[in-house]
Amino acid sequence: MTKGTHAKKTVFSGIQPTGVVHIGNYLGALRNWADMLDDYDCIFCVVDLHAMTTPYDPAAMPESVRETLMVNMAAGLDPERCTLFVQSHVRAHAELTWILGTCASYGELLRMTQFKDKTSRYPENVNCGLFTYPILMAADILLYKAEVVPVGEDQTQHLEFAREVCRSFNGRFGETFPEPQPKFGPVTRVMGLENKAKMSKSLGNHIPLLAEPEEIWSLLRTAATDPARVRRTDPGTPEICNIHTIHLGFSSEEDILWCEEGCRSAGIGCVDCKKRLAGNMSASLAPVRERYKQYAAEPDYVHDVMLHGAKQCEQRAERTMHEVRKKTGCTTKSNRYLSPKGIQLFRSENSKQTREN
Ligand code: TRP
Repeated sequence: MTKGTHAKKTVFSGIQPTGVVHIGNYLGALRNWADMLDDYDCIFCVVDLHAMTTPYDPAAMPESVRETLMVNMAAGLDPERCTLFVQSHVRAHAELTWILGTCASYGELLRMTQFKDKTSRYPENVNCGLFTYPILMAADILLYKAEVVPVGEDQTQHLEFAREVCRSFNGRFGETFPEPQPKFGPVTRVMGLENKAKMSKSLGNHIPLLAEPEEIWSLLRTAATDPARVRRTDPGTPEICNIHTIHLGFSSEEDILWCEEGCRSAGIGCVDCKKRLAGNMSASLAPVRERYKQYAAEPDYVHDVMLHGAKQCEQRAERTMHEVRKKTGCTTKSNRYLSPKGIQLFRSENSKQTREN
């Protein structure tokens, strides 16, 4: 398989620019991604084009994107060891989406559970972007010929779809893209504080990753635990308690054992267990908060990270698009295309153009 100049396998994943990142995102995804940085050629993308499929405030978008980038960097996506960029900064995502759309099955798209779910929940906002969302996601991945995609369980169907689109393109136009493989991390399904639904920002049942110790405690203090423990003297079952799940993400084995035994024997109360967790969580996230403050104080650096990522990815994307244009027959004879001004011709690969943002 062609890997260009990159000896390590390419990993790609997308991050929604929601601004607020919570401990569910951290334990379920971010932390696992950070562990991959040295072994893979990692590309992480803030997917603003995907975010356009749901109502949003355009004026607030740039700040949400920056914020998301900074929190993710602080959480372990070290910009020195991976490529970080913003989807809309690399135009080829939109171009490849169109091309792949001609290789995608309409019937398959209709079967996407996320599409069905979103359209039934928001019947007043069924836009076509919502429908073709998985094609854009396939384009994200294939543009960089990524071989590995770390995903959560909610994205497995989309990834399977991307694999089908990949096979379909390769079958129609010749072997071009490697089939991306999913990589599932250790499954940590963190429930919300009320323990009724998965932790999510939109449900407001989350602990922000950047929460200060006081906030962590005030959120944990009232969080749901094993309902069997009505009184302190009632024994509980740690395995069914969400607080226990979160302990597994932040506490030492010794502390986990202490909580498990104390819970089963009613030797400790839920408040004791939560206090221990709050301390551990505050301590283990202190470096994240610290790094975030540093990035927030250096807007030029964050800007540079974005610019550098866009440049890198644009070059890589352009290499793929050159091949795609040739294979699909949508090309001129030379490796040239019209500039946006429509008059000068320039070489796409060594373009010295300055970006507008
Ligand atoms: N759809 C993904 C999500 O909601 C985000 C995403 C966009 C993505 N493009 C991707 C994930 C490419 C993996 C690969 O979480």
